Amino acid sequence: MDTNTPLALLGGLTASQFMRRHWHKKPLLVRQAIPGFKPLLNRAQLLSLAGADGVEARLIEQLGDGRWKLSHGPFPRRRLPSLTQPGWTALVQGVDLHLQSAHELLQQFRFVPDARMDDLMISFATDQGGVGPHFDNYDVFLLQAHGRRRWRIGRQKNLALQPDVPLKILAQFEPEEEHVLEPGDMLYLPPKWAHDGVAEGECMTYSIGFRSPARDELARELLLRMSDEPDEPETPVVYKDAGQLAVEQPGAIPVELHAFARQALERALAEPLALERALGEYMSEPKPNVWFEHGDERGMFESVVLDRRTRMLYDARHIFINGESYLAGGRDATLMRKLADTRSLSRADLARASDDALELLSSWFDSGWVRAGDEG
Ligand code: SIN
Ligand code: CO
Repeated sequence: MDTNTPLALLGGLTASQFMRRHWHKKPLLVRQAIPGFKPLLNRAQLLSLAGADGVEARLIEQLGDGRWKLSHGPFPRRRLPSLTQPGWTALVQGVDLHLQSAHELLQQFRFVPDARMDDLMISFATDQGGVGPHFDNYDVFLLQAHGRRRWRIGRQKNLALQPDVPLKILAQFEPEEEHVLEPGDMLYLPPKWAHDGVAEGECMTYSIGFRSPARDELARELLLRMSDEPDEPETPVVYKDAGQLAVEQPGAIPVELHAFARQALERALAEPLALERALGEYMSEPKPNVWFEHGDERGMFESVVLDRRTRMLYDARHIFINGESYLAGGRDATLMRKLADTRSLSRADLARASDDALELLSSWFDSGWVRAGDEG
């Protein structure tokens, strides 16, 4: 993507300008970010997705007197309130995994590293519906897809939440700005900016959401993967204490066990590239509800595209795809990085590919991770 071309999507800013001035720093309201935008799914299609197995969906209802109700899907039509009842919202997460056009919409936001991209969430609300004033820990682009929504936003110092509600709702919301968004308008919000979007009539909003791994979660995931060494001996190395003396205080942990534990961690950290490998594997791991349909039996492709569900990343030494890692260098690395960046390889690219690279692509094709290019 050319990061120095002014984009209507960003109100005439280039991606570079947007990242420097706004990303993670301050909101941006863009009128007609996508001029003439038409929803990718109509109401019936979206609500039917909310009822499908394997789709993450939530329902938020305002019960009056400041009471809220949160339920988790799937929602067959009879579990949803009537369309004439005001004040409810259905939220469908990960629409890009299920719908090619939603996946394609996200491609416009690839001026942000893929490792930071989360998903497309679509909300449907009846009049006055909303999820209440809150803040998120993540950056988000809120694209109005259908109807109107009134957003009130603010920097909010006091992040205290209302007690005894099933949602994260700010106890004292102090909005500073108010904007009514029409279809095609978009609002970017950095993490922690308080916001409250209320539907004015029936409305649909698309949230292009990002992920920021939390430090504790990352440490846990990385340690788990790093302790899984590739050259692990067949019989595990266990703690030995031939020198252990008889104890009078059996509750005390032997200091030698501390040393053994420390060594275990130091060993995992000292292994060259272990951290890089673990990070790439973790960040490219598909979401738990993702499954792939196997490639067709002919096993033939002249050009390839990544399946929309595939997460592919790379670093200086590795290629990562759907939680797996490969050491790669030279021509093969160049080719695979191109696949990760452009999500496709042409016939000409494949004509120059090594046998090893073709073999790998063929195994990914069998797994349904890549598809024949002409399938779209
Ligand atoms: C919504 O679309 O109703 C909620 C999106 C958000 O506030 O993050
Ligand atoms: Co939010």
